[in-house]
Amino acid sequence: MARTALVTGGSRGIGAAIALALKDAGYQVAANYAGNDEAAQKFKAETGIPVYKWSVADYDACAAGIGKVEADLGPVDVLVNNAGITRDAPFHKMTREQWNEVIGTNLNGVFNMTHPLWNGMRERKFGRVITISSINGQKGQFAQANYSASKAGDLGFTKALAQEGARAGITVNAICPGYIATDMVMAVPEKVRESIIAQIPTGRLGEAVEIGRCVVFLASDDAGFITGSTITANGGQYFC
Ligand code: CAA
Repeated sequence: MARTALVTGGSRGIGAAIALALKDAGYQVAANYAGNDEAAQKFKAETGIPVYKWSVADYDACAAGIGKVEADLGPVDVLVNNAGITRDAPFHKMTREQWNEVIGTNLNGVFNMTHPLWNGMRERKFGRVITISSINGQKGQFAQANYSASKAGDLGFTKALAQEGARAGITVNAICPGYIATDMVMAVPEKVRESIIAQIPTGRLGEAVEIGRCVVFLASDDAGFITGSTITANGGQYFC
């Protein structure tokens, strides 16, 4: 029987490309989203992938949402923690709200989604937890103290949990995309974006589907010996 995958933030941007790549690879896929009903319904109509609305920042909503997905599609074998937000500001202008919102979604959200699924994966002796971090969690980024901290936290989470999951057949890995052509990157002021592209050796932004392919590999049985690792996909912009 096909394995079930749940992708957070899965109806737009990188998440949508991941959901589609998993569907094309034969998984039953559910896409979570938090806010944009119109985009989610359009995605569902175009792809046939069911969409489920809740905020990953809310633990109880995650537990309830996962319950619905599992009632519809069966136990979740592959969790892709993709949902993420930016609230960029130089630190002297950054508000507590901007800090808390980003940590709440990008870091707490990873706990809130993984924790309710963890015991089921342990019992079934199989699981894949794949978290989408960022180049900016590796190198830091001006005006992103909140985002860089959250994405670096995702990498620590991944490395710690990989050690706990290994004996239970669960792999826990991260992907660090560089600058990908999504709404998030397009929201960066054009002049700043041009200067970023100039720093990417491949001379272009990444495509969301290129991250989708990394996820399909990490989810596969072929990747069973890979855990606690980070795949860096950034066009050569940063090596670590
Ligand atoms: N390095 C050093 N200095 C920088 C800088 C940088 N990268 N970017 C801006 N500055 C400087 C400016 O030159 C300016 O200096 P002066 O005051 O001396 O002129 C100052 O910082 C900015 O001051 P502003 O008052 O104009 O700042 P602002 O409050 O208007 O904020 C900003 C502007 C939020 C920083 C805006 O420029 C911005 O959004 N920058 C992009 C940040 C970024 O790269 N975010 C990544 C988003 S994509 C993503 O996160 C996805 C992923 O995972 C890769």
